Amino acid sequence: MSRKLKLSLAMASVVTASVMFAGCNEEQPKAESKTAQSEVQNAPAVKSAKSVVVYYSQTGATKKLAQIFKSTRNADEFELTLVKPYPSTYDSTIAAVRAERESKQWPALVNAKLDVAKYDTVFIGYPIMFGTFTPPIYSFLDANDLSGKVVVPFCTYGSGGRKASAAELKTLEPNANVTLAYGISNKRINAEKGIETATREVEGFFADLATGKTDEILMGGYSGQRPLTADDSAAFAEATKDYAYLNLKPLSVSSQVVAGMNYLFVCEMKAFGGPATQTNVKIFKPLPGQGEAQLIAVEK
Ligand SMILES: Cc1cc2nc3c(=O)[nH]c(=O)nc-3n(C[C@H](O)[C@H](O)[C@H](O)COP(=O)(O)O)c2cc1C
Repeated sequence: MSRKLKLSLAMASVVTASVMFAGCNEEQPKAESKTAQSEVQNAPAVKSAKSVVVYYSQTGATKKLAQIFKSTRNADEFELTLVKPYPSTYDSTIAAVRAERESKQWPALVNAKLDVAKYDTVFIGYPIMFGTFTPPIYSFLDANDLSGKVVVPFCTYGSGGRKASAAELKTLEPNANVTLAYGISNKRINAEKGIETATREVEGFFADLATGKTDEILMGGYSGQRPLTADDSAAFAEATKDYAYLNLKPLSVSSQVVAGMNYLFVCEMKAFGGPATQTNVKIFKPLPGQGEAQLIAVEK
């Protein structure tokens, strides 16, 4: 059975598809969108702050992303290590994480306590598990008080979870300034030029942060849904061919010409054969000859 299918089946019983796959990133070739002046004034001063990259990574994708944050932001590094590492097989990890989530017994960390006082900005990186951040992040949050800090979430995922995880972080850290989150799929960061792609997008992400962009502003660039053309359908089919388990049916689309094409498809989704929900699917299609259309994220 494929890894994705296994994930799908294992998670279907635990969380709803709408929560699991809520998430998307906005950092593909930039959309033109207007910037609210008040947001600009409130933009956190991320760049000049003394910062640290806190992260957990089980299979290395988030670690790659953490290194990009560390080097581009000149930040310290704090990799979370489990006292009892997750099992080496995927199925067993699913079972272990499910048990932690059901009991809310978060895993013990070798290095739970960070000297938070040294930092103004905490970048928090994680793989999406069961629709939100991985359990070791709860352990870290339980052991540290991030009140007053700028908290910048970043994540890797199979199909999504960026927005939902950042929203949960905001709830758990109401006294921190939790910013827009960055996310990239496992498939894209692990691709041949994945590090270059992620580095370019992270730069765009920080430009968005500096100008106070929000998800709402970024989504504003996708107004005007229209019926699909044959080209739209072809791009959709190419980008979603590895995501059959989501059972996505595109209903309408809006597109932006960039260096290639950004698409936002409104879709009906019956993930794992469950009930139909409406969801957005972001796809990027490079210029001809520069690669296949890619699923960027599935989000609500
Ligand atoms: C237990 C478990 C649960 C997962 N749940 C989700 C999920 O709900 N949504 C998703 O898009 N990806 C999910 N994934 C995929 C991971 O988020 C993805 O593979 C990530 O890039 C792994 O990061 P890492 O290599 O840093 O560990 C899950 C993976 C595991 C092991």
